[in-house]
Amino acid sequence: MPSQLREIFGAEFPLINRYVDILATTGVERGLIGPREAERLWDRHILNSAALSGLIAANSTVADVGSGAGLPGIPLALRRPDLRMTLIEPLLRRSTFLTETVTTLGIADRVQIVRSRAEDHQHSYDVVVARALAPLVRLIGWCNPLRAADGVILALKGSSAADEVAAAERQLRAARLKAEVLTVRPHPDVEPATVVRLSPQA
Ligand SMILES: C[S@@+](CC[C@H](N)C(=O)[O-])C[C@H]1O[C@@H](n2cnc3c(N)ncnc32)[C@H](O)[C@@H]1O
Repeated sequence: MPSQLREIFGAEFPLINRYVDILATTGVERGLIGPREAERLWDRHILNSAALSGLIAANSTVADVGSGAGLPGIPLALRRPDLRMTLIEPLLRRSTFLTETVTTLGIADRVQIVRSRAEDHQHSYDVVVARALAPLVRLIGWCNPLRAADGVILALKGSSAADEVAAAERQLRAARLKAEVLTVRPHPDVEPATVVRLSPQA
């Protein structure tokens, strides 16, 4: 486990530990996490999710679209207790896992679960986050209607980020969105994450 985690999660460190434990046991048993991922949950999944924190203003409402087993929404909610988080996930097996997990962690008062596809959910949020959801060309159509007029979309991406932005030029123009490819870290000593930030054009 990376030593910086105590600093990153502060008082919520016991809870993020508990979440990783749930992912590595129930998450693997129920097929939400691949058995090989269990060994690299901290590096590959938790720190990558937590990296979004610095891009989100205090007290924002946040929607995690296609949350799966709770990534990035649960690590973000634990790192940032000021956020009001909604995890949007259409599959029953996954949304049941999410409901059980936020109840076990005692964070159900600030993390809500919505079982729905993004396109069927009518609500707006200050920030819409997504990780491993879909290429930007498709992600924009799903996430943009959930964004408040002055809100942003933060998509965690890998090395394909710049190519995905180029491929989505038409969708970005139609939605009047500006795209920036950013590298962010949850702590100076850990690997950076690549994020595409989509915000309203000035
Ligand atoms: C590859 S998983 C990624 C899960 C998680 N975000 C992560 O990083 O591990 C994609 C998730 O998006 C969900 N999904 C697919 N289409 C969706 C849609 N139209 N609206 C919301 N979620 C969707 C799937 O059910 C799945 O849980």
